[in-house]
Amino acid sequence: MLGNFTFHNPVKLIFGTDAMNMLTDELRAYGPVVQLVYGGGSIKKNGIYDQVVKALEAAGKTVVEDAGVMPNPTVEKLNEGIKIARDNHVDFILAVGGGSCIDYAKGVAVSVNLPEDVDPWQKYWVDFEEPTCDVVPVGSVLTMVGTGSEMNCGSVITNHETKMKVGHVFANPDVFPKFAVLNPEFTYTLPAYQMVAGIFDIMNHITEQYFSGTDDSTSDYLSEGLMRSLIHASRVAVKNPHDYEARSNIMWCATWALNTLVACGKTTDWEVHMLGQAVGAHTDATHGMTLAAVALPYYRLIMPYGVAKFARFATNVWGVSPEGKSGEELAAAGLDAMEAWMREIGCVMSISELGATEDMIEGLADSTLVMQGGYHVLTRDEIVRIFRESL
Ligand code: NZQ
Ligand code: ZN
Repeated sequence: MLGNFTFHNPVKLIFGTDAMNMLTDELRAYGPVVQLVYGGGSIKKNGIYDQVVKALEAAGKTVVEDAGVMPNPTVEKLNEGIKIARDNHVDFILAVGGGSCIDYAKGVAVSVNLPEDVDPWQKYWVDFEEPTCDVVPVGSVLTMVGTGSEMNCGSVITNHETKMKVGHVFANPDVFPKFAVLNPEFTYTLPAYQMVAGIFDIMNHITEQYFSGTDDSTSDYLSEGLMRSLIHASRVAVKNPHDYEARSNIMWCATWALNTLVACGKTTDWEVHMLGQAVGAHTDATHGMTLAAVALPYYRLIMPYGVAKFARFATNVWGVSPEGKSGEELAAAGLDAMEAWMREIGCVMSISELGATEDMIEGLADSTLVMQGGYHVLTRDEIVRIFRESL
């Protein structure tokens, strides 16, 4: 039976090759000073920066640049961004990039108007409080596909000092971006490694929600459709990164994978993200690849607690024939099929490839939050075992 839920997603999505033409009009709805957030410079090389600046000029905005947002944005960078926003009294924050830029923009947005003696990290990423101040509106131009940050209320920040990488999914709808400009062609310049990391991130967002509950849920049927589309499109895109149809379907899948739709009525798991984020906190590795490196040992460990859903995953997502197989055999065959696909598209399959070593395992376990909503609640020993098997 579906659990109780409220579905509310106010993000305006503008999708396709003409999407940038709408940016000026969207910006006109907000105040005159815009903080332009971007990363390490890819947008200057591929021409997206010039298009954005043109749109900002046409809308008559005063632009305050805030560049250098790193993948896995840090608390230190966040505090810099908050200072920029406060010093310049910004009215709007425009994030141009991937999940890192958008998450960072949301982090700045919920912090600018806090009293100066309140520490945003403590308030939002340790105590998981909601904003107690006005939230500055955020918009985005997406250049890297995977996180779904363009259509959700999440913001993930890394604290290297405490070795914690933490996501806060805000309940306050003001934290949703006001709009997201999605042009699949903007993703053509992504290195293959990033594209594949994004693809696995999408896959895992769906499985984190799908692998929970034993009821008959429309959300699960939606998830299966998204996964089938993603698997198909990923195979095409890996061979031909400029295949517009494949890249646009991957972009669309990413958005629906994590905009709360397929979580409706479900408890949801999210333990692979907790394990992956621990790896990220210690190695600063690419988010999607940290998930890929730990996912199979985790799913193989919990599979016996959720055999029926893993068996359904095998048949409905991977097309494995149930004939002559026990439930457990079918479930295992589904995970084998996922493993083969991950290898085919080029996922990283071990945490040692991401810089983790045997002596880091206890620390990784210390950094792993334990979730309650999936088929099994991990013990400390099991967490350690998963990291060992992921090496
Ligand atoms: O910084 P630049 O130079 O722009 O380069 C970026 C970066 O190095 C590059 N890139 C982006 N678009 C490009 C491009 N290079 C060439 N052409 C383009 N069009 O790609 C690199 C990765 O970008 P990043 O934004 O870090 O990737 P992603 O979108 O995967 O975001 C990762 C962050 O999002 C968090 C992750 O934990 C991580 O911190 N997540 C956020 C979530 C959310 N808000 O709901 C959920 C996710 O599970 C995830 O945890
Ligand atoms: Zn993710």
